[in-house]
Amino acid sequence: MSTPRRVVLGVSGGIAAYKAIEVCRGLVTAGVHVAPVLTHDSLHFVGKTTFDALASEPARVDLFDLSAGRDVSGGRDASGGSGGGESSTAIPHTRLGQTADLVVVAPATAKLLGKYAAGISDDLLTATLLATRAPVLVCPAMHTEMWEHPAVQANLQTLRARGVHVVPPESGPLAGGDVGTGRLADPAAIVAAALALLDQRAADPARVPDLVGVRVLVTAGGTREPIDAVRVVTNRSSGKQGHAIAEAAARRGAHVTLVTTAARPTIGEMSIVRVETAREMQDAVLPLAAGVDVIVMAAAVADFRPVTPPDRKVKKDEGLATIALEPTHDFLVDLGAAKRPDQVLVGFAAETDDLEANAAAKLERKRLDLIVANDVSEPDAGFEVDTNRVVILDADGGREALPVQSKAAVADAILDRVRDRLARIAGSG
Ligand code: CTP
Repeated sequence: MSTPRRVVLGVSGGIAAYKAIEVCRGLVTAGVHVAPVLTHDSLHFVGKTTFDALASEPARVDLFDLSAGRDVSGGRDASGGSGGGESSTAIPHTRLGQTADLVVVAPATAKLLGKYAAGISDDLLTATLLATRAPVLVCPAMHTEMWEHPAVQANLQTLRARGVHVVPPESGPLAGGDVGTGRLADPAAIVAAALALLDQRAADPARVPDLVGVRVLVTAGGTREPIDAVRVVTNRSSGKQGHAIAEAAARRGAHVTLVTTAARPTIGEMSIVRVETAREMQDAVLPLAAGVDVIVMAAAVADFRPVTPPDRKVKKDEGLATIALEPTHDFLVDLGAAKRPDQVLVGFAAETDDLEANAAAKLERKRLDLIVANDVSEPDAGFEVDTNRVVILDADGGREALPVQSKAAVADAILDRVRDRLARIAGSG
């Protein structure tokens, strides 16, 4: 019989903690081995005994839980031995983290999210979260005012940028008779999300670094073209997809340079060049291009910019009835023209109409190897959102429509195709 998949179920201290019991039951019913980790605060809302009875092993609460008699590794330890004994119980957080296939935190309170985002480990659950390399799914639950607080949203943003998965809260009645967003998602939805992540992990076990030594240049974000000293014309690109590509390439061992307009944080080792305008992006990219193996132009470069913007603020009563625009230079065309035979050049096409025909025309005109086309009129694709639905076309007439998925997963899918093209080039050279 195969080893059951292992989930650490973290429960932090909110009224929704009672719903974690349903999550626990749902996972166990689906054949998952569940190791519950309760915070001290959660014990105000639920009992340890309930989880002891329903989960696959006794619930843990304390960082130094020497009383817990059972092996938290479930027979699998990092050294390949049978685990167990004193050392594993003395440091349960590392053992729990190392042996988990997934960590789920439901409910995740504002305090838990804050500590996790800040890297503070002052109890067993936060220590386990920092010690694990397994995927993590957090399911926030709190009062609407807390949910909407910029600090909570910023923490969540930080966690998302680090690859943490989130099942967002729902709208509905909250504790105390209030109604609003903040209610823990339905336990069945949390179980379904956890099972989907476990399936994904089983299908793609710890990806080997397959881009070691490859030099990758990525552009990201929408350029900002000045109207005057304070105003800009820009577009809705957030830079999320480009940053996800740079992060995925770095994780896969590439030597990455990211030229970006977006101030969002990045994970992994890379050099970052921050730019604002199309001209600045062009000036940063063109000199770097000759020295790299792969260029991914995910940036939404402005096609027009205001003509001779004044370097002072235009006053309201001076009037600004029209803004004269001039075309920017399409430097992806330059990159295509200067492309070495051993280079892979990837463009993007954000479209609202005739997606594939427009993308195919750009692929040919700009002499690209691959073009990633996305229909930005779809709610789950394109600008600002965390998911994307793309069609990848290649210079040999290949076409692949990918399902809607996270921008991180789209990034890996693009890099898989880049890796395959590099291998083909190397093989034919
Ligand atoms: N691009 C570029 N320089 C520009 C405009 C676009 O390098 N001045 C790049 C983008 O980074 C993207 C690709 O060209 O990889 C396609 O951009 P897009 O705006 O979709 O296409 P355009 O060729 O500008 O065509 P249109 O705006 O008419 O759709």
